[in-house]
Amino acid sequence: MNLKVSCCLLLVCLVVSSQSQTQRRRKVIRVRRPISKARAIDQRPPPEQVVGSQSQSSGCPESEGLQLYEDPENCHRFFKCANGTLTHEECENGLLFDERTAQLGSVHNHCNFNWAVTCGERYLDDTPIASLGCPYRFGIFRTDKCKPFYNKCASGQYVKTPCETGLVFDESIHSCNWPDQVQEEDGGCDSEALLGGFRCPPQDKLSKLNQRYYPFPRFAIENQPELYISCVNNRPRLQSCGPGTEFDSNVLGCVQLDGF
Ligand SMILES: *[C@@H]1O[C@H](CO)[C@@H](O)[C@H](O)[C@H]1NC(C)=O
Repeated sequence: MNLKVSCCLLLVCLVVSSQSQTQRRRKVIRVRRPISKARAIDQRPPPEQVVGSQSQSSGCPESEGLQLYEDPENCHRFFKCANGTLTHEECENGLLFDERTAQLGSVHNHCNFNWAVTCGERYLDDTPIASLGCPYRFGIFRTDKCKPFYNKCASGQYVKTPCETGLVFDESIHSCNWPDQVQEEDGGCDSEALLGGFRCPPQDKLSKLNQRYYPFPRFAIENQPELYISCVNNRPRLQSCGPGTEFDSNVLGCVQLDGF
């Protein structure tokens, strides 16, 4: 058989790692197979690619599911493995990465509110990107002092979001709170003014029935039977009766409505 002698090309590539302090030397030997007439194109991957499985070559330790890892250098960034595919993700403005809340309890794309995240040694540049109603592109923010709503911002667009009945947004805790409990830097909240100047009467001015509720006496609100006022530390709080109930001033409590 006059088969042409296949040409084997031996490529010796000497990779010298100049960064290595030990001047470690690694030899990579690449063997090119002869091209056969039947299969002009060898589709098998070169040996050096076979060595590492797909998940190993991508850097993901698992080939299935979702894994999230903090970027040890940068509080804004994280590594995401989705079914073995590795991506280097970035949190949106106003959000940062926290491994503890990444899978559950994150705000957007596995990131959490900047005030809820401790960056530690990780790089942080928390420069806000503001737009109308939104100091940062993502987050929940006060609109003004003592308001029973707040702005929920996503991608720089706000949605005016109500607090539950009787509560106002408290920037210092990033949540709705009783007005008498608000302790923001620019002062508290006047819970009496919010209720049209309602003042909690002293104990000796209470009805016999309300004496029994002291120190939390209750008061009906005219034309708003689903609501009532209760006093806590002599500060009024607006309370709501549950669905299907309304405040009955004869018993100073919420009573079931007929038909519920
Ligand atoms: C992984 O693949 C499964 C099946 O296609 C899919 O249901 C799941 O959402 C994927 N998970 C991620 C994190 O991409």
